[in-house]
Amino acid sequence: MNVLVAGGTGFIGTRFVRELHDGGHDVTVLARRPDDADVPEGVERVRGDVTAYDSIEGALAGQDVVVNLVSLSPLFKPTGGTSHTEVHLGGTRNLVDAAEAHDVRKMVQMSALGADATGPTEYLRAKGQAEQVVADADLAHTIFRPSVVFGDGGEFVPFTKLLTTPYVTALPGGGRTRFQPIWVEDLTPMLAACVEAEHDGEGYDVGGPEVLTLADVARLAYRAEGRSVKVVPVPMALARVGLTVADPLPFVPFGSDQYRSLRVDNTVADNRVDAFGVAESDLTTLGEYLGVSGSGGTPDPSTGKTGV
Ligand SMILES: NC(=O)c1ccc[n+]([C@@H]2O[C@H](COP(=O)([O-])OP(=O)(O)OC[C@H]3O[C@@H](n4cnc5c(N)ncnc54)[C@H](OP(=O)(O)O)[C@@H]3O)[C@@H](O)[C@H]2O)c1
Repeated sequence: MNVLVAGGTGFIGTRFVRELHDGGHDVTVLARRPDDADVPEGVERVRGDVTAYDSIEGALAGQDVVVNLVSLSPLFKPTGGTSHTEVHLGGTRNLVDAAEAHDVRKMVQMSALGADATGPTEYLRAKGQAEQVVADADLAHTIFRPSVVFGDGGEFVPFTKLLTTPYVTALPGGGRTRFQPIWVEDLTPMLAACVEAEHDGEGYDVGGPEVLTLADVARLAYRAEGRSVKVVPVPMALARVGLTVADPLPFVPFGSDQYRSLRVDNTVADNRVDAFGVAESDLTTLGEYLGVSGSGGTPDPSTGKTGV
């Protein structure tokens, strides 16, 4: 199949493109700086900005499937005058319009767990509205919604360390917000399978094998460096005031939207990794990835799963 991967040069995209290429597909990556990409020989590169229709339209010609992996990170305040609405919603609209113009058969839309047109953060709202654009399009589609993704080059563990300090650290609400992190190398084969027609019309929520709080992730990240950390809570209300005040300050990387995202649990009620022949227990834990084993965690009351 001819597959165009918008955002194919990023953290997930780089592995994903390799997976598709190894699977025998003819792959083209589209990004604003495609020359920087670490892609296998034989993968085509196209320069385009999904927020500018004319810059991407021609890239859809002759494609069977378009995969949208374009991202503006939800973990940090957007810089450069752009927004989640412009990139995630506007960019998706442009890709859909161009795909329809060139009779592309299918779109695989990378969304995010908790995407919701009326959700609590601009990122989740833009992702939810973008899903609707894809669902309404004159194209077959599959929507993929992972919890946070970890792996070499990923932002999640470094972000947690940026938010914390070793030995004693303060986290909003004691870092009790829960995530279900999935390893990028576990995720990409599943995402690659989504280009196939058997997944048409499906939406998949996926997560890793365990539920971890932000505090658990901080403990694991420091344990991997041989250091311990004691988490002390900052009341959510105080964190909100601090980050709202910080909103207009360009040198502070977090703002009120990031504060809101730290309050929203990001765990999977029905983990659809089974749709790809994978059992949750086959997946890599964050502790295994970091080379430290988890222990002493609190079982999740709803799932019985144990974090760190
Ligand atoms: N990482 C996670 O934990 C996670 C969790 C859930 C969902 N997701 C979703 O997974 C997808 C991939 O995320 P990622 O972590 O791999 O992101 P990433 O590493 O930041 O990669 C983003 C990609 O998008 C390209 N891009 C950004 N703005 C663009 C624009 N205006 N036009 C064209 N290309 C643009 C970037 O290349 P250039 O900068 O060169 O343009 C890069 O190839 C995103 O949809 C994200 O929301 C990620």
